[in-house]
Amino acid sequence: MKRLLVTGGAGFIGSNFVQMVLSEHPDCLVVNLDKLTYAGNLENLTEFMRHENHVFVQGDICDGPLVARLLDEHRIDAVVNFAAESHVDRSITGPKIFIDTNVGGTLTLLEAARDKKVERFVQVSTDEVYGSLGSEGMFTERTPLSPNSPYSASKASADHFVQAFGHTWGLPYNITRCSNNYGPYQFPEKLIPLMIHNALHDKELPVYGDGLYVRDWLYVYDHCTAIWAVLQKAPVGEVYNVGGCNEKPNLEVIRLILQHVGKPETLIRYVKDRPGHDRRYAIDAGKIMRDLGWKPSVTFEEGIAKTIDWYLANAQWLSHVVSGDYQNYYRTMYANR
Ligand code: NAD
Ligand code: DAU
Repeated sequence: MKRLLVTGGAGFIGSNFVQMVLSEHPDCLVVNLDKLTYAGNLENLTEFMRHENHVFVQGDICDGPLVARLLDEHRIDAVVNFAAESHVDRSITGPKIFIDTNVGGTLTLLEAARDKKVERFVQVSTDEVYGSLGSEGMFTERTPLSPNSPYSASKASADHFVQAFGHTWGLPYNITRCSNNYGPYQFPEKLIPLMIHNALHDKELPVYGDGLYVRDWLYVYDHCTAIWAVLQKAPVGEVYNVGGCNEKPNLEVIRLILQHVGKPETLIRYVKDRPGHDRRYAIDAGKIMRDLGWKPSVTFEEGIAKTIDWYLANAQWLSHVVSGDYQNYYRTMYANR
């Protein structure tokens, strides 16, 4: 697959993917369709905006005629759908846009991909569609979908639509379900960049509930190589879990960040829990490792060190991101906690 429509390529994971493809696969064309919501940021792509194999289009995945035109005009052979509303807390305060983009937008892309006979449709999904685990066990690709938040309900719905298009019209698809990503260019509404930002500015670190919720952390570059492997090697209709083999309670992650930036644990503040907070996610990524030969390139300790170094070296990026609307978001989201 060489002529890609990448959606959401100005967001966190999408921009890392676009950078990886343009840097490492010079025979690929990337048409990058992004609406530039609060989470989309062209500063994630500064060095790539004039790249000869990169076409950036500001637009909505819900715009069927636009999507159809891009598929035709650029003779796209594969769609990789990153575009989404991605933050669980926002889905609790305002779920409607999650249906519009994550379900409606995916449906629009699927219809266009089917009509234009695209060779592959890769849906970037999440382990959150499987629900929550107790203290034992892992999600496999056969775990039944049981989403708990409005965000994960919308992602699970999109996954069902992708599979329905495969079943009904023979659309050649794959679905990837990955765990929590971290790394450069992540918007500081998510745990790791929010804690790095607050620690650097001596602000309190808001820990939801008892802080013992467990996530499996995946370095974003490793997620990008997994999607690339799926695009190039996966049989049609297969679903792959992607995880970093790095299960950690939130408090452990936060303490590690404080140590790295040399700030005291007294900055930690326990706040009101997220409603319906999933206790534990853990991913069995054995299938993608066995079948496609993928494996993560870094341990969590290496990845978090690289991530913190990146935020320290890119203070200007961070200060632009947290100016303006971010301040309103932060005040509102954390006011009553
Ligand atoms: P993000 O919020 O950083 O970026 C989303 C991007 O999509 C932004 O650039 C935004 O402008 C764009 N977008 C939103 N609505 C759009 C629309 N209607 N049309 C076109 N573009 C639109 O998200 P992310 O963290 O990079 O996540 C990317 C994908 O990976 C999402 O589908 C998410 O569900 C999935 N995912 C994320 C994680 C994670 O840890 N971040 C883990 C598992 C799965
Ligand atoms: O598992 C994959 C999912 O990971 C993705 O599908 C989502 O797009 C992505 O946002 C992420 O969801 P989480 O809800 O797990 O990520 P978040 O960074 O919001 O929270 C991680 C953990 O940290 C979770 O247990 C809640 C907690 N937390 C989060 C924030 C923002 C806090 O304790 N304090 C905070 O301020």
